[in-house]
Amino acid sequence: MIRLAICALFFLPLTSCGKPSIEDRPIRPSEVSDFNTLFSARCAGCHGTQGAGSGSIALHDAALLQMMSKDTMVDLITNGREGTHMPSFQSNTGNPLTDAQIHVIVDGIYDSWDKNAPPWSASKRYELQQGKITRGQGAFADMCGQCHGNDGLGASAGSVVDPAYLELVSAQYLRTVILCGRPELGMPAMGSKIDDRTADDIVAWLQTFRSTQ
Ligand code: HEC
Ligand code: HEC
Repeated sequence: MIRLAICALFFLPLTSCGKPSIEDRPIRPSEVSDFNTLFSARCAGCHGTQGAGSGSIALHDAALLQMMSKDTMVDLITNGREGTHMPSFQSNTGNPLTDAQIHVIVDGIYDSWDKNAPPWSASKRYELQQGKITRGQGAFADMCGQCHGNDGLGASAGSVVDPAYLELVSAQYLRTVILCGRPELGMPAMGSKIDDRTADDIVAWLQTFRSTQ
């Protein structure tokens, strides 16, 4: 009886719909070409539903998209960022994305979320450059101290100089966070108040707290 029921369940789609057509064939992971499906499956776990931020930074951020070129993002998805949890989607042998899928994701991100970027972001550079440590220390106290403490050890917001935290993130990421914030966590975007060089300087100072440099 149970066996019969299972057979009925299994064969129902075939018998009720006739011969399976090409469209019914299961789609291979490498053939998925819909932005929302790809983003939900491959990015949302860390960057949030609709890119709203989760374990890592929000991607539905027009300021970030204004600063970061599409080529840079393609390169990042392809190669990942060494030493962080941002994976390479081509060298992870399990279920890599094709070049075409990476372009679908990047085009989808920009088409969906690159709207109404704040004016400051048009003139900002994305890439981190070498900054000055002592200048960064002063700027941190001025701009960040009210929430993170002048020494970075934490006040109303948490520590940003804990080596265990710094081990998880790249210097480039720290720069992005300073400019674009993590608004969903209460960390404000500071790109309107901080120029390119000062952002580099603050990162240079934060870098001195890494256990390995
Ligand atoms: C108005 C308060 C406020 C100011 C000003 C502020 N932060 Fe934050 N920041 C936060 C909050 C809240 C978080 C969320 C996590 C937490 O509570 O530590 C955060 C998180 C962070 C993180 C971790 C983000 C992540 O995704 O890992 C970094 C790094 C950081 N801030 C650096 C800075 C720097 C550098 C400055 C100055 C340029 C600054 N913050 C200014 C409130 C602030
Ligand atoms: C397993 C978690 C994880 C997944 C999955 C993931 N990311 Fe990331 N991503 C991260 C982390 C962590 C960072 C910050 C890395 C660092 O510290 O530099 C990051 C950084 C980024 C950044 C750059 C932010 C910056 O300026 O530093 C972009 C853009 C990005 N991811 C896009 C994507 C896209 C698109 C996907 C899906 C194809 C994706 N990520 C999937 C964890 C993830």
